[in-house]
Amino acid sequence: MRTRLRTIGLFLLGSSWIYAQPQPEQKALPAEKYFKNVQVLKGISVDEFMATMGFFSASLGENCTYCHVPESSGSWERYADDNPNKQTARKMLVMVSAISRTYFGGQRAITCYSCHRGGDRPKITPSLAELYGPPPPDEPDTFVTDGPPSPTADQVLDKYLQSLGGAQPLAALTSFVAKGTYKGFSDPDKRPVEIYAKAPNQRTTIVHTAGGDTITTFSGHDGWSAAPAVYSPMPVLDLTGDNLDGARLDAELSFPFGIKQALKQWRVGYPGVIDGHDVQLVQGSIDGRYPVNLYFDSKSGLLVRLVRYADSPVGLAPTQIDYADYREVAGVKMPFRWTVSWLDGRSTTELSEVQPNVTIDAAKFARRQ
Ligand code: HEC
Ligand code: HEC
Repeated sequence: MRTRLRTIGLFLLGSSWIYAQPQPEQKALPAEKYFKNVQVLKGISVDEFMATMGFFSASLGENCTYCHVPESSGSWERYADDNPNKQTARKMLVMVSAISRTYFGGQRAITCYSCHRGGDRPKITPSLAELYGPPPPDEPDTFVTDGPPSPTADQVLDKYLQSLGGAQPLAALTSFVAKGTYKGFSDPDKRPVEIYAKAPNQRTTIVHTAGGDTITTFSGHDGWSAAPAVYSPMPVLDLTGDNLDGARLDAELSFPFGIKQALKQWRVGYPGVIDGHDVQLVQGSIDGRYPVNLYFDSKSGLLVRLVRYADSPVGLAPTQIDYADYREVAGVKMPFRWTVSWLDGRSTTELSEVQPNVTIDAAKFARRQ
């Protein structure tokens, strides 16, 4: 049922990039058909292409206009123009592919980030400050080997469901409509947001920005995000691969009753600390390729952080969601504030009201053309 373009195992043969062909049911347009001047990153969907741009920016610690002409910030067309850094980036793509193929048996052992680490010119000399300073916290992007035998993943999840209110009220919550505010990283103002969610896995988020509405939907089957031209190169961007799985997971976890079925291969990691609170790491996986990291507050049992990964041709892109301010709605504790951090942005949503078990018009989950 999963439709995805193969993006790992991206090898350079001669001078062409070889990707497995899209599945027949893959309806997303390949990026090179949509954009004007794609020479290397061919055969991926537009959402994966944009995720790759986010990965570039994060790896070099630069804005989009570092590799694109200044005029591109007001015009998607102008992103097609080349500048020297963009041309270097193309060469770097070819270089990374050649290194992987020549020295690592085609495994993705290095990415832009391995060398650049958030800078445009990779450092040559080891930093004493880094050597003797505190190490940055490590987010596992691979499966952890099981932590201590107790508690088990099952026990942590059971405690979570219990802390949320228990099986009975959780099962009775089948839909909700929420209202509040959304604060994006590039907008100084809080914007009104509406969320429509229906069990087991439909969810639409509408943010009323100054430039128009941005709408992200998982319909129960497909996912997309619709946004005005200031925010997106495409009016309706279909989510594919891991981005689609991420949207499905967000929709499913709106109704935590089914959390054990939402992920597979549960395992428990070692305890840690987030914002001064003891947490327990539990990992699950969508399809066995990458972990989804869930951190539960050891005391309250509540979910405080989720980290998931989306593959792109150049590396894994993490998304982190931090949940806070749990309040009770129809006997179920729900987070009223959460912050989503991804490679090229961060947003905070704060709810002011949640109406449980209301009828939601099916049109709310229908694709806008
Ligand atoms: C490190 C350099 C780099 C950064 C930073 C970067 N890009 Fe790119 N971008 C490229 C390269 C290289 C291409 C062409 C890829 C190819 O030829 O396969 C490209 C192509 C594009 C295109 C396709 C344009 C067309 O019509 O052909 C768009 C759109 C785009 N980038 C948007 C962005 C956005 C938005 C950002 C910031 C989030 C960004 N880029 C950051 C290097 C970069
Ligand atoms: C093996 C290490 C390594 C990897 C991996 C790597 N780079 Fe580089 N990159 C370098 C070095 C070293 C330089 C600086 C070259 C110089 O000083 O002229 C550089 C320079 C650049 C520049 C030009 C910066 C400037 O100021 O001149 C861009 C753009 C760039 N890299 C993008 C990328 C992208 C995009 C990727 C991933 C596809 C990547 N690099 C992966 C080592 C690497």
